[in-house]
Amino acid sequence: MKVGVVGLGAMGSGIAQLCVEAGIDTVGREVTLELAEGARGRIDHFLTRKVEKGQIESFDIGLLSLTTDLSDLADCDVVIEAIVEELAPKQELFAKLERVCRADTVLATNTSALSVTEIASATSSPERVVGMHFFNPAPLMPLVEIVRAELSSDAAFDIAYALGERLGKHPIRCHDTPGFVVNRVLIPLLNDCVRVLDEARVSVEDLDAGMKHGAGWPMGPCELLDLVGIDVHVHASEALYDKLREPRMAAPPRLAAMANAGLLGRKSGRGFYTY
Ligand code: CAA
Repeated sequence: MKVGVVGLGAMGSGIAQLCVEAGIDTVGREVTLELAEGARGRIDHFLTRKVEKGQIESFDIGLLSLTTDLSDLADCDVVIEAIVEELAPKQELFAKLERVCRADTVLATNTSALSVTEIASATSSPERVVGMHFFNPAPLMPLVEIVRAELSSDAAFDIAYALGERLGKHPIRCHDTPGFVVNRVLIPLLNDCVRVLDEARVSVEDLDAGMKHGAGWPMGPCELLDLVGIDVHVHASEALYDKLREPRMAAPPRLAAMANAGLLGRKSGRGFYTY
Protein backbone atom coordinates (compact mmCIF):
# COMPACT_ATOMS: atom_id res chain seq x y z
CA MET A 1 0.00 0.00 0.00
CA LYS A 2 1.16 3.55 -0.71
CA VAL A 3 -0.28 6.71 0.82
CA GLY A 4 0.27 10.31 -0.23
CA VAL A 5 -0.08 13.20 2.20
CA VAL A 6 -0.41 16.68 0.73
CA GLY A 7 0.57 19.43 3.17
CA LEU A 8 2.96 18.58 6.00
CA GLY A 9 1.88 21.13 8.58
CA ALA A 10 0.74 20.11 12.06
CA MET A 11 -2.01 17.79 10.78
CA GLY A 12 -0.32 16.46 7.64
CA SER A 13 2.95 15.64 9.37
CA GLY A 14 1.01 13.90 12.13
CA ILE A 15 -0.83 11.83 9.53
CA ALA A 16 2.41 11.02 7.69
CA GLN A 17 3.90 9.98 11.03
CA LEU A 18 1.04 7.54 11.58
CA CYS A 19 1.62 6.08 8.11
CA VAL A 20 5.35 5.56 8.72
CA GLU A 21 4.62 4.03 12.13
CA ALA A 22 2.18 1.64 10.43
CA GLY A 23 4.93 0.58 7.99
CA ILE A 24 3.26 2.16 4.96
CA ASP A 25 5.15 3.57 1.97
CA THR A 26 4.39 7.28 2.25
CA VAL A 27 4.93 10.26 -0.04
CA GLY A 28 4.75 13.66 1.62
CA ARG A 29 4.21 16.71 -0.56
CA GLU A 30 4.99 20.27 0.51
CA VAL A 31 5.47 23.50 -1.40
CA THR A 32 9.20 23.62 -0.60
CA LEU A 33 11.65 20.85 0.26
CA GLU A 34 12.79 22.84 3.32
CA LEU A 35 9.26 22.66 4.78
CA ALA A 36 9.05 18.96 3.93
CA GLU A 37 12.40 18.24 5.55
CA GLY A 38 11.33 20.13 8.67
CA ALA A 39 8.28 17.87 8.90
CA ARG A 40 10.40 14.75 8.39
CA GLY A 41 12.66 15.94 11.24
CA ARG A 42 9.65 16.28 13.58
CA ILE A 43 8.35 12.85 12.58
CA ASP A 44 11.76 11.28 13.15
CA HIS A 45 11.99 12.98 16.56
CA PHE A 46 8.57 11.79 17.78
CA LEU A 47 9.05 8.23 16.52
CA THR A 48 12.55 8.07 18.05
CA ARG A 49 11.01 9.12 21.39
CA LYS A 50 8.45 6.33 21.03
CA VAL A 51 11.26 3.81 20.54
CA GLU A 52 13.16 5.23 23.54
CA LYS A 53 10.02 4.91 25.67
CA GLY A 54 9.51 1.33 24.52
CA GLN A 55 6.16 2.14 22.87
CA ILE A 56 7.35 0.79 19.51
CA GLU A 57 10.29 -1.45 18.66
CA SER A 58 11.55 0.40 15.60
CA PHE A 59 10.48 2.44 12.59
CA ASP A 60 11.86 3.09 9.14
CA ILE A 61 11.95 6.79 8.26
CA GLY A 62 13.04 5.65 4.78
CA LEU A 63 9.38 4.80 4.14
CA LEU A 64 8.71 8.55 3.89
CA SER A 65 9.76 10.18 0.64
CA LEU A 66 9.39 13.91 0.14
CA THR A 67 8.40 15.85 -2.93
CA THR A 68 7.17 19.20 -4.15
CA ASP A 69 5.74 17.60 -7.28
CA LEU A 70 2.16 16.31 -7.18
CA SER A 71 2.82 13.86 -9.98
CA ASP A 72 4.95 11.85 -7.50
CA LEU A 73 1.61 10.85 -5.94
CA ALA A 74 0.49 9.16 -9.17
CA ASP A 75 0.67 5.57 -7.92
CA CYS A 76 -0.72 6.10 -4.40
CA ASP A 77 -3.68 4.01 -3.25
CA VAL A 78 -4.94 6.82 -1.06
CA VAL A 79 -4.00 10.51 -0.98
CA ILE A 80 -4.88 12.51 2.13
CA GLU A 81 -5.06 16.27 1.73
CA ALA A 82 -4.15 18.47 4.70
CA ILE A 83 -3.49 21.88 3.14
CA VAL A 84 -4.86 25.30 4.07
CA GLU A 85 -8.49 25.20 5.26
CA GLU A 86 -9.94 27.16 2.30
CA LEU A 87 -12.36 25.80 -0.28
CA ALA A 88 -10.77 27.21 -3.48
CA PRO A 89 -7.22 25.86 -2.96
CA LYS A 90 -8.65 22.48 -1.92
CA GLN A 91 -10.84 22.31 -5.01
CA GLU A 92 -7.92 23.25 -7.22
CA LEU A 93 -5.77 20.57 -5.59
CA PHE A 94 -8.41 17.84 -5.99
CA ALA A 95 -8.85 18.73 -9.66
CA LYS A 96 -5.07 18.34 -10.11
CA LEU A 97 -4.92 15.12 -8.08
CA GLU A 98 -7.65 13.65 -10.26
CA ARG A 99 -5.49 14.32 -13.31
CA VAL A 100 -2.22 12.94 -11.91
CA CYS A 101 -3.38 9.96 -9.82
CA ARG A 102 -4.48 6.49 -10.89
CA ALA A 103 -8.19 6.22 -11.66
CA ASP A 104 -8.74 4.11 -8.55
CA THR A 105 -6.79 6.29 -6.08
CA VAL A 106 -9.03 7.33 -3.20
CA LEU A 107 -8.81 11.09 -2.60
CA ALA A 108 -9.42 12.01 1.03
CA THR A 109 -9.63 15.43 2.65
CA ASN A 110 -8.78 16.13 6.27
CA THR A 111 -11.01 19.22 6.25
CA SER A 112 -12.58 19.93 9.62
CA ALA A 113 -15.35 22.35 8.70
CA LEU A 114 -15.69 22.56 4.91
CA SER A 115 -18.01 20.42 2.83
CA VAL A 116 -16.41 17.27 1.41
CA THR A 117 -19.12 17.27 -1.27
CA GLU A 118 -18.15 20.78 -2.38
CA ILE A 119 -14.48 19.78 -2.55
CA ALA A 120 -15.42 16.67 -4.55
CA SER A 121 -17.49 18.79 -6.95
CA ALA A 122 -14.27 20.17 -8.44
CA THR A 123 -13.51 16.70 -9.84
CA SER A 124 -15.23 14.61 -12.48
CA SER A 125 -14.90 11.51 -10.29
CA PRO A 126 -16.54 12.59 -7.01
CA GLU A 127 -17.24 8.94 -6.14
CA ARG A 128 -13.62 8.50 -5.09
CA VAL A 129 -13.61 11.52 -2.74
CA VAL A 130 -14.20 11.04 1.00
CA GLY A 131 -13.35 12.79 4.26
CA MET A 132 -10.76 11.45 6.69
CA HIS A 133 -10.88 13.90 9.57
CA PHE A 134 -8.12 13.41 12.15
CA PHE A 135 -7.91 15.28 15.45
CA ASN A 136 -5.09 17.41 16.75
CA PRO A 137 -2.49 16.12 17.64
CA ALA A 138 -3.13 13.40 15.07
CA PRO A 139 -0.60 10.88 16.42
CA LEU A 140 -2.10 11.05 19.91
CA MET A 141 -5.85 11.42 19.33
CA PRO A 142 -7.45 8.01 18.67
CA LEU A 143 -10.37 9.22 16.54
CA VAL A 144 -10.74 9.58 12.80
CA GLU A 145 -14.10 10.53 11.27
CA ILE A 146 -14.65 8.78 7.93
CA VAL A 147 -16.98 11.09 6.06
CA ARG A 148 -19.27 10.01 3.27
CA ALA A 149 -19.94 12.82 0.80
CA GLU A 150 -23.11 12.83 -1.33
CA LEU A 151 -21.47 10.93 -4.19
CA SER A 152 -18.78 8.89 -2.37
CA SER A 153 -18.72 5.25 -3.46
CA ASP A 154 -18.91 2.40 -0.95
CA ALA A 155 -15.54 1.18 -2.24
CA ALA A 156 -13.77 4.51 -1.53
CA PHE A 157 -15.46 4.80 1.87
CA ASP A 158 -14.42 1.27 2.86
CA ILE A 159 -10.80 1.83 1.77
CA ALA A 160 -10.62 5.01 3.88
CA TYR A 161 -12.16 3.21 6.86
CA ALA A 162 -9.70 0.32 6.55
CA LEU A 163 -6.79 2.77 6.32
CA GLY A 164 -8.01 4.51 9.49
CA GLU A 165 -7.92 1.14 11.26
CA ARG A 166 -4.51 0.28 9.85
CA LEU A 167 -3.20 3.59 11.23
CA GLY A 168 -4.29 2.41 14.67
CA LYS A 169 -7.21 4.83 14.90
CA HIS A 170 -10.77 4.36 16.04
CA PRO A 171 -12.72 5.27 12.90
CA ILE A 172 -16.35 6.37 13.04
CA ARG A 173 -18.66 6.63 10.04
CA CYS A 174 -20.68 9.74 9.30
CA HIS A 175 -22.22 11.78 6.50
CA ASP A 176 -21.00 15.10 5.17
CA THR A 177 -22.79 17.65 7.34
CA PRO A 178 -21.26 20.88 8.73
CA GLY A 179 -18.69 19.99 11.40
CA PHE A 180 -19.42 16.26 10.92
CA VAL A 181 -19.83 14.76 14.41
CA VAL A 182 -17.24 16.08 16.84
CA ASN A 183 -16.75 19.65 15.63
CA ARG A 184 -20.54 20.11 15.36
CA VAL A 185 -20.52 19.70 19.13
CA LEU A 186 -17.04 20.88 20.12
CA ILE A 187 -16.87 24.19 18.26
CA PRO A 188 -19.98 25.78 19.82
CA LEU A 189 -18.96 24.29 23.17
CA LEU A 190 -15.54 25.97 23.02
CA ASN A 191 -17.22 29.22 21.97
CA ASP A 192 -19.52 28.94 25.00
CA CYS A 193 -16.47 28.38 27.21
CA VAL A 194 -14.95 31.65 26.00
CA ARG A 195 -18.25 33.50 26.55
CA VAL A 196 -18.31 32.16 30.11
CA LEU A 197 -14.89 33.73 30.71
CA ASP A 198 -16.49 37.16 30.51
CA GLU A 199 -19.96 36.32 31.82
CA ALA A 200 -18.80 34.55 34.98
CA ARG A 201 -15.69 36.73 35.34
CA VAL A 202 -13.67 33.57 35.84
CA SER A 203 -9.94 33.54 35.10
CA VAL A 204 -8.52 31.52 32.23
CA GLU A 205 -6.75 29.23 34.70
CA ASP A 206 -9.91 28.69 36.77
CA LEU A 207 -12.06 28.00 33.71
CA ASP A 208 -9.53 25.40 32.57
CA ALA A 209 -9.39 23.89 36.05
CA GLY A 210 -13.21 23.85 36.12
CA MET A 211 -13.58 21.85 32.94
CA LYS A 212 -10.69 19.51 33.79
CA HIS A 213 -11.71 18.76 37.34
CA GLY A 214 -15.47 19.19 37.01
CA ALA A 215 -16.10 17.67 33.61
CA GLY A 216 -13.14 15.32 33.18
CA TRP A 217 -11.67 17.06 30.13
CA PRO A 218 -8.03 16.04 29.51
CA MET A 219 -7.10 19.69 29.04
CA GLY A 220 -8.97 22.93 29.72
CA PRO A 221 -10.82 24.76 26.90
CA CYS A 222 -8.31 27.63 26.78
CA GLU A 223 -5.37 25.22 26.66
CA LEU A 224 -7.17 23.33 23.92
CA LEU A 225 -7.87 26.50 21.90
CA ASP A 226 -4.17 27.39 22.20
CA LEU A 227 -3.29 23.90 20.95
CA VAL A 228 -5.73 23.96 18.00
CA GLY A 229 -4.76 27.55 17.09
CA ILE A 230 -7.04 30.52 17.76
CA ASP A 231 -7.06 31.41 14.05
CA VAL A 232 -7.93 27.83 13.05
CA HIS A 233 -10.79 27.74 15.56
CA VAL A 234 -12.17 31.15 14.50
CA HIS A 235 -12.01 30.08 10.87
CA ALA A 236 -13.81 26.79 11.58
CA SER A 237 -16.43 28.63 13.65
CA GLU A 238 -17.09 31.02 10.76
CA ALA A 239 -17.43 28.12 8.34
CA LEU A 240 -20.00 26.41 10.59
CA TYR A 241 -21.85 29.67 11.25
CA ASP A 242 -22.08 30.31 7.50
CA LYS A 243 -23.69 26.92 7.00
CA LEU A 244 -25.87 26.58 10.10
CA ARG A 245 -26.65 30.18 11.12
CA GLU A 246 -26.72 29.19 14.78
CA PRO A 247 -25.43 32.05 16.98
CA ARG A 248 -23.40 29.68 19.18
CA MET A 249 -21.35 28.68 16.13
CA ALA A 250 -20.06 32.24 15.65
CA ALA A 251 -16.71 32.93 17.30
CA PRO A 252 -17.01 35.33 20.27
CA PRO A 253 -15.47 38.77 19.53
CA ARG A 254 -12.77 38.07 22.11
CA LEU A 255 -11.47 35.16 20.01
CA ALA A 256 -11.69 37.12 16.76
CA ALA A 257 -9.69 39.95 18.38
CA MET A 258 -7.04 37.48 19.56
CA ALA A 259 -6.75 36.04 16.05
CA ASN A 260 -6.45 39.54 14.55
CA ALA A 261 -3.76 40.47 17.08
CA GLY A 262 -1.69 37.40 16.22
CA LEU A 263 -2.35 35.73 19.59
CA LEU A 264 -2.74 32.35 17.96
CA GLY A 265 -1.79 30.04 20.82
CA ARG A 266 1.15 27.66 21.00
CA LYS A 267 2.30 28.20 17.44
CA SER A 268 2.77 31.97 17.89
CA GLY A 269 4.12 31.67 21.44
CA ARG A 270 1.12 33.46 22.95
CA GLY A 271 -2.62 32.86 23.16
CA PHE A 272 -4.53 32.47 26.41
CA TYR A 273 -1.18 31.38 27.84
CA THR A 274 2.41 32.29 27.03
CA TYR A 275 4.69 29.52 25.74
N1 CAA B 1 3.62 12.67 17.87
C1 CAA B 1 4.04 11.81 18.80
N2 CAA B 1 4.17 12.13 20.06
C2 CAA B 1 3.82 13.38 20.39
C3 CAA B 1 3.35 14.31 19.48
C4 CAA B 1 3.27 13.92 18.16
N3 CAA B 1 2.86 14.76 17.20
N4 CAA B 1 3.08 15.47 20.13
C5 CAA B 1 3.40 15.24 21.40
N5 CAA B 1 3.84 13.99 21.55
C6 CAA B 1 4.35 13.32 22.71
C7 CAA B 1 4.84 14.29 23.76
O1 CAA B 1 6.09 14.81 23.38
C8 CAA B 1 4.94 13.38 24.93
O2 CAA B 1 6.09 12.60 24.84
P1 CAA B 1 7.31 12.70 25.89
O3 CAA B 1 6.86 11.85 27.03
O4 CAA B 1 8.40 12.11 25.13
O5 CAA B 1 7.47 14.14 26.23
C9 CAA B 1 3.76 12.40 24.70
O6 CAA B 1 3.37 12.57 23.35
C10 CAA B 1 2.61 12.67 25.56
O7 CAA B 1 2.41 14.06 25.56
P2 CAA B 1 1.67 14.75 26.73
O8 CAA B 1 2.35 14.49 28.04
O9 CAA B 1 1.38 16.16 26.32
O10 CAA B 1 0.37 13.84 26.72
P3 CAA B 1 -0.90 13.92 27.57
O11 CAA B 1 -1.08 12.63 28.19
O12 CAA B 1 -0.90 15.15 28.38
O13 CAA B 1 -2.03 14.05 26.43
C11 CAA B 1 -3.25 15.07 24.71
C12 CAA B 1 -1.93 15.04 25.44
C13 CAA B 1 -3.48 13.76 23.98
C14 CAA B 1 -3.12 16.19 23.70
C15 CAA B 1 -4.39 15.30 25.75
O14 CAA B 1 -4.10 16.43 26.52
C16 CAA B 1 -5.72 15.47 25.08
O15 CAA B 1 -6.38 14.52 24.74
N6 CAA B 1 -6.13 16.74 24.89
C17 CAA B 1 -7.34 17.06 24.15
C18 CAA B 1 -6.99 17.24 22.71
C19 CAA B 1 -8.19 17.47 21.87
O16 CAA B 1 -9.31 17.58 22.32
N7 CAA B 1 -7.95 17.53 20.57
C20 CAA B 1 -8.98 17.78 19.62
C21 CAA B 1 -8.82 19.16 19.15
S1 CAA B 1 -10.16 19.60 18.10
C22 CAA B 1 -9.68 19.10 16.61
O17 CAA B 1 -8.61 18.65 16.36
C23 CAA B 1 -10.70 19.24 15.59
C24 CAA B 1 -10.42 20.19 14.55
O18 CAA B 1 -10.82 19.93 13.47
C25 CAA B 1 -9.77 21.53 14.80
